[in-house]
Order: sequence, then C-alpha cells, then structure tokens
Amino acid sequence: MKKNSRILIVDDDETLCYLLKEELLSEGYTVDVVYDGKYAIDSIKNKNFDLLLLDLQMQEVTGEEVLNFIKSYAPNLQVIILTAKSEMRVAIECIKKGAYDFISKPYDFDDLLLTINRALEHKDLLVKNTILSSKVDQKVSSKIIGEGKQIQHTINLALRAAKSDSNILLEGETGTGKELFAEFIHRNSERCDKPFVIVNCASLPDQLIESELFGHEKGAFTDAKAPKQGLVEIADGGTLFLDEIGEMSLTLQPKLLRFLENGEYRRVGGVVTLKSNVRVIGATNKNLIEESEKKNFRRDLLFRLNVITLTIPPLRDRGDDILLLANHFLALKSSVRDPKRLSKAAEDTLMRYKFPGNVRELQHIIERAIIFAEGNIINPEELNLPAAYFSSSPSKTDHNYSTFTEEEDDQEEQQAIKSLDDMEMLHIKKALDFNNWNRENTARILGISQKTLYSKILKYNLKQYE
Ligand SMILES: Nc1ncnc2c1ncn2[C@@H]1O[C@H](COP(=O)(O)OP(=O)(O)OP(=O)(O)O)[C@@H](O)[C@H]1O
Ligand SMILES: [Mg+2]
Repeated sequence: MKKNSRILIVDDDETLCYLLKEELLSEGYTVDVVYDGKYAIDSIKNKNFDLLLLDLQMQEVTGEEVLNFIKSYAPNLQVIILTAKSEMRVAIECIKKGAYDFISKPYDFDDLLLTINRALEHKDLLVKNTILSSKVDQKVSSKIIGEGKQIQHTINLALRAAKSDSNILLEGETGTGKELFAEFIHRNSERCDKPFVIVNCASLPDQLIESELFGHEKGAFTDAKAPKQGLVEIADGGTLFLDEIGEMSLTLQPKLLRFLENGEYRRVGGVVTLKSNVRVIGATNKNLIEESEKKNFRRDLLFRLNVITLTIPPLRDRGDDILLLANHFLALKSSVRDPKRLSKAAEDTLMRYKFPGNVRELQHIIERAIIFAEGNIINPEELNLPAAYFSSSPSKTDHNYSTFTEEEDDQEEQQAIKSLDDMEMLHIKKALDFNNWNRENTARILGISQKTLYSKILKYNLKQYE
C-alpha cells in the first residue's frame, strides 16, 4: 500500500460511503467523501487526490461527467468506477475514456483493495512519465564521492536537514554538486517515495516557468489549448528543486513566496486557489543576501527559503578528494578492456589546479584525457589545463586546512574570493573569444545557461573587441 494516498469516495449511497470510508481509513488511507458529482468536481479543484472511487448514477452530475472533467483537468488522477450490474455498458464506456477499472456493487473489499493498489502503482508510473517528458531536466541519481572533512561535514548536515521538513537553500560555486546534494536530501527524506522534480529558473522565460510550476487553465494564453497540471501539483508530497533560484524574476517571486508560506497557488489564468504540499530546495551560485540588498531578490522570500542553508565547498578546498573523484570518473568512463590511470605528475598537476568549474570541470577533464591519452597512463599534457588557473602549492588537504588560524583563514578566503571573480571573468572571456562570441556554444561549453552567461557578460562588462 502507498503510504498516505488520498482517496475521494463519490457516491450518493451514504451508508456505503460510511462503511467504505471506515474500511479504507483502517488501511491507512486518507479519505474524503462527497455525495454527488458536482461536489466531486469542487473537491478536485481544491485539493489533490490520488484516486477516486466513483459511482455512476448521481442526482446532479453523473460519474461519467466527473470522469470527463478529470481527464482534462487532472489526468494522473486514477478513477475506479463503482457500478451496479445493470450499468455494465456505461462502466465499459468509462474504461475506454480512461477510468482505471470498475468494481461491481456489492463490492468485495479485498478485491477492491487490490485494484486500488494497482491503480496507485499505475499513477506513480504516469507521474514519473509526466516529469520525464516535461520541459525541465531530470537526471538519474548518483553517489556523492568525498572523504575529506569538509564534504563529510556537509553530507552530515544534509542528512540532518533531510530528516526535517524545512525548505533548504544550497549555495556553492558552479559544478560543486548542488543538484547532487538536492537529490541526496530528497532520497534520505520521508518524501523519498514521492516525486523529485527539478525546475531550472534560468532556462525558461517567465511565463513558461510559471505555467510549468503552477499549471495553466485552457485559454490562459495563446498556446494554452488545454488545461495543464503544474509541477507543484504533480510533485505533491515530494520535493521541488528550484535550480538557479537567484535568476527568478521579481514578478514570479511573490507567487513562489505565497506558495512557500501556505502551499497555495493558482494555475495561470485560474481563479481557484489550489494547495499542494512539497518541500522546496533552492540552489544558487549567487550571494542572495547581496542580491536582496540590490533589490534583485525579495528578502522575505530569502528568509522563507534559507531556513537551512548548506554551502557546498569548492573542489580546490577539498584536498585529496580531487584525486578520489578523478579516479572515480576514470573508472566510470574508461573501458574495462582499456583501463587508464593517472601518472604521478598528472596527479600533482591536478592537485595544483584551481578548478573554477569544480567537480563538473574535473569530470570533463578526465573524459577528455581518456580520449586523448595514447597509452594506459594519463600524463599532465593530456589533461590539457589552462595555465591561468594554477596555484604554486598543491590544494589544501583537510589537515592543512585546519592548521590555519582563523585570521589567516579569513585573509585567505578574502583573497580567494577576489581572485575567483577575476578567474571567472578571464575564463568566460576566453571561452567567448574561442567560440567567436557565439553565446549558445559558449554557454554549453561552460556548462551554464545562456541567461547566466548573459548576466556574467554584464557583470564583468565584457566586450567582443577588447
Ligand atoms: N561529490 C561528488 N561525487 C560525485 N560526483 C559529483 C560530486 N559533486 C558533483 N558531482 C558531479 O559533477 C557534476 C556537477 O554537479 P551538479 O550538477 O550537482 O553541480 P551544481 O552545483 O548543481 O552546478 P551548477 O551550479 O552549474 O548547476 C554532476 O555530474 C555531478 O554528478
Ligand atoms: Mg545545478
């Protein structure tokens, strides 16, 4: 049985409703009851259900009409028809229209329970499919690799955060593993058997993000030919990962704020207020406090989001984990028949490199080196690292790191922050020049969205002919 699944019973036979409700409650389901199709439609508009037990003959609005409404309004909602023997023909019609199954009255409770469970499993598959085919990126989960003190500390915090139900803000430079951590938190939370949905706030125009998130009604805008469920509705009970949340427009921010405050939202063009229960994890490589001071990000939204903030450390501060990760990617990407390994000199080179693109960059470096290495050993030249991003000493190990005094730490950090900006600027300029200022190619190679690239060009005031 799926924990906490929500069932709506729609039948004008009050005794049957009462008995059925009691039986289903004792099985652990959450159950609502209405006595006419008219009220069923109201309930579906106001609350998310997983399954409907639907009578056919009712006074005002029939079961068939409710089914028609569901198929366009909430297509993942499963319907089991409760039917008298005499209504068999209509019941079969309903199956053709998309009801999951029918059960004849008087029902056998064990049979009904079996059908309910199968229908709920079917719904899970549909939800997964809807998420996969939506315009947002979804990825398969992978393991967080890292044995250093810092990353282990972050993993521990993430595990503790996972057990709470608070919203979480993940901060970290590009490629540090924010998305990986978001998924890790979801998998370790009570919500793990519900959907994990990713929406990248920088990848779509405003109106599309709003309708992806909250859905839309038919006719809400030119292309809205049919009503559509939003991802918050589909992810109900699960986790919503809002990537690059710092890029969310000021028009959309109040709508998200309202949703975070009480779970309420409206479909685009809709008049009914809906409710959904999802945990939101936001990720950003911006400093949102600074952004809120510059009035680019609402302060109240920031406070709703950063109930728990996790900062993922940059790769250059993770010491030996650089080699651990490099070997992990080597094992993952090189063929079993032709395994490759790093020479000592290549290891030393990696330990001195500053990885402005963090783990994602390391992953690409290794993939490229596997292709270009002629023998089984990867040498420093085959890593092909730009000279601008080297430090004279190897990356700090976690041990070295803890021997710094606090003051030294602060100074180091300050210098690192300044030089990082410079490094980022140089790297972006180089990538743009290399691609003849083609922003699409440049953004792809840098592994960032075009919108982010555009904001960096503005930030560093980069010009093509300089
Ligand atoms: N600790 C880790 N162990 C294994 N793989 C990792 C680790 N950290 C990151 N990766 C991998 O590196 C890549 C980049 O990670 P991810 O997409 O989570 O970064 P991000 O912080 O969300 O980046 P961006 O800010 O650019 O969106 C992914 O392929 C991810 O699987
Ligand atoms: Mg990301």
